[in-house]
Amino acid sequence: MLRLIHLSDIHVWWVPWNPLRLIGKRLIGASALALGRARRFRLERLPDLVERVLALDPEHLIITGDLTTLATPEEFAIARAALAPLLADPSRATVIPGNHDRYTRGAARGGLFERAFGEFSPGGSYPWLRVIGAGTAILGLDPTRPGLTARGVLSPRQLEEARRILEQWPPIPRLLVACHYPVIAPPAQARALAGKPMIGSPALVHWLEGVGRHLYLCGHVHRAWAFRPPGLPDQLSLNPGPPLMTDPSGDNPPGFLEVNLYGPDVHVVRHSWSNGRWSTSPFHEERGFFSLRALEGS
Ligand SMILES: [Fe+2]
Ligand SMILES: [Fe+2]
Repeated sequence: MLRLIHLSDIHVWWVPWNPLRLIGKRLIGASALALGRARRFRLERLPDLVERVLALDPEHLIITGDLTTLATPEEFAIARAALAPLLADPSRATVIPGNHDRYTRGAARGGLFERAFGEFSPGGSYPWLRVIGAGTAILGLDPTRPGLTARGVLSPRQLEEARRILEQWPPIPRLLVACHYPVIAPPAQARALAGKPMIGSPALVHWLEGVGRHLYLCGHVHRAWAFRPPGLPDQLSLNPGPPLMTDPSGDNPPGFLEVNLYGPDVHVVRHSWSNGRWSTSPFHEERGFFSLRALEGS
């Protein structure tokens, strides 16, 4: 059994004392913070989240981006320090960026994400493939870019490179694609994704139609889901939702996903925080999702 923990959209925030630092895009981001983001993302719960994940002792931790809010050095430092207990062994953690981790051109140019979390991926450039267990590998994609828009772009070059990488490897029985942006959201979240989509999605979907069974680990839309897109039947799309966001409606509790791979079977459990305590619920179970024959041959 391979136990993975999937976290996303932690959104550490930090408000500088000197408002003169908030220029350009940061001013817009800071306004959003002032309007409620700081209230909605409860950083004081971060140590408890870390403790919960640590107690599960996963073989591998995957964080699919948006660790920060404005991509300031302070936010990266807070996120890195808070998550340190989960990141003691770089061979057991994979961290990819979200659009908020490249929020300003300065942050992107200065490689702030790479400086804080670069050791939790196999290389500085995307895509890459990383083996994390028997017959199991993560394909990492990065469609993030600095700029005012929350839209990502998966370049044709990156898609072409991903295709080339998978062609070079022997077939991967349990393929996990990690990308901050979903390609397809459940119907109830389709509008949310349409407001901040990834340009290049249709080409990626077209390619994914031919790669066989895969888990697609994403975030970005702040809702948890485990979803088999009808238009992409070989995909199980997993979004853990944000683990620290408040839930006034009561129907979107903060949490994360525990993904247990038993041979070809996939068991997903959601850990959610509501009414001041953690609870777990079965989220998606599928026997024989992956090919047993491919696993035995790997
Ligand atoms: Fe986010
Ligand atoms: Fe995002």
